[in-house]
Amino acid sequence: MKLVHIAGTRPNFVKIASIIRACNATDEIESVLVHTGQHYSDNMSKRFFRDLDIPLPDINLEVGSGSHAAQTAEIMKRFEKVVIEQKPDAVLVVGDVNSTLACVLVSKKMQIETIHVEAGLRSFDRTMPEEINRVLTDAISDILFVSEPSGLMNLRNEGISSSRIYFVGNVMIDTLEANKSKAESSTILNDLDLRRNGYSVLTLHRPANVDDGNVFKEIVDALAKIQEEIKVVFPIHPRTRQNLESNSLGQRLKALPNILLIEPLGYLDFLKLMSNSKIVLTDSGGIQEESTILGIPCLTLRENTERPITIHEGTNILVGMGAAGIFNGYKKSMCTNKSYRRPKLWDGKASERIAKVLLNLFVNISSAVNYA
Ligand code: UD1
Repeated sequence: MKLVHIAGTRPNFVKIASIIRACNATDEIESVLVHTGQHYSDNMSKRFFRDLDIPLPDINLEVGSGSHAAQTAEIMKRFEKVVIEQKPDAVLVVGDVNSTLACVLVSKKMQIETIHVEAGLRSFDRTMPEEINRVLTDAISDILFVSEPSGLMNLRNEGISSSRIYFVGNVMIDTLEANKSKAESSTILNDLDLRRNGYSVLTLHRPANVDDGNVFKEIVDALAKIQEEIKVVFPIHPRTRQNLESNSLGQRLKALPNILLIEPLGYLDFLKLMSNSKIVLTDSGGIQEESTILGIPCLTLRENTERPITIHEGTNILVGMGAAGIFNGYKKSMCTNKSYRRPKLWDGKASERIAKVLLNLFVNISSAVNYA
């Protein structure tokens, strides 16, 4: 089976690391890796290939940044040529970014089997670009691999046949489990002069949070109070940095004495940083999942999440984007220990299950697969 894997952004690299490893462990799947180039900076891309031992991309479309339409269209134009040349049996996409949707549209129209990993997640908030990408990708993909039970329910409610759906677990957690001990040797705590449990970690990159000055101001107001109680380590995503530099909020943030503003970190350094923190504040989807497995309290600075299991079974709490809600959430988390458990099939073996299903469907190698 010739399988083209698509990766374009930082969270995609984390997911495909485990999927490609599981596919390469079989003799029957030939993997071709296409990097769309949506993320291209060393610390958003190459660093992850090094940290996670991902094979170098076979093809890089080098699309770079742009508006949604321009970026999606450019990926489609360039990827169409790849499909014509490579003639894959199937194309596998992960997550919910523009690269995901662009490549699914191209493959499906060329009648290539399409596979979506992390299918069925829904925030029910169509102001999020990712939600549009999710709904459209799932509607036309042939095989849908689901990470949590809400995904099964959402897909069924959208009328998608159960025969296309497989509940396999979470590939992001596969990568976390595979790299936990390696991350131990990261020197990031010493480098930043941090004590275990003595700091919080913050990440922000959602357009709804960082592109809207009024919302961003509310978040900075909350951070001003939180940093009076605990050090905040803030690796800044490029989108967020641009916004901070273009307005006075950046100056205000820089002036707060107990916030450490740093460049985006690699996978291993970030895992070590998060694992040893007291609490995480984030608007990322992946971090909601990782903190659940690490047992680190997580405050999600959003009104909704497409990953409800991280709330029902994990450490995650939604605190919204208002200053009062964020600060109250922080205070509450500091004085109560939310109980949590490991969600079903978040066991480090999701990618193996995916490879087994693919062998079953495409190579006719059956190993009693029944994950629906
Ligand atoms: C994208 C995804 C988002 C995902 C996030 C992970 C979409 C619609 N959004 O958002 O779902 O959670 O990645 O990080 O696909 N930039 C750099 N270097 C890079 C990449 C980007 O400097 O390597 C800058 C560019 O100026 C760019 C901005 O960051 O304009 C935003 O990048 P973009 O790829 O448009 O979206 P993200 O905000 O990263």
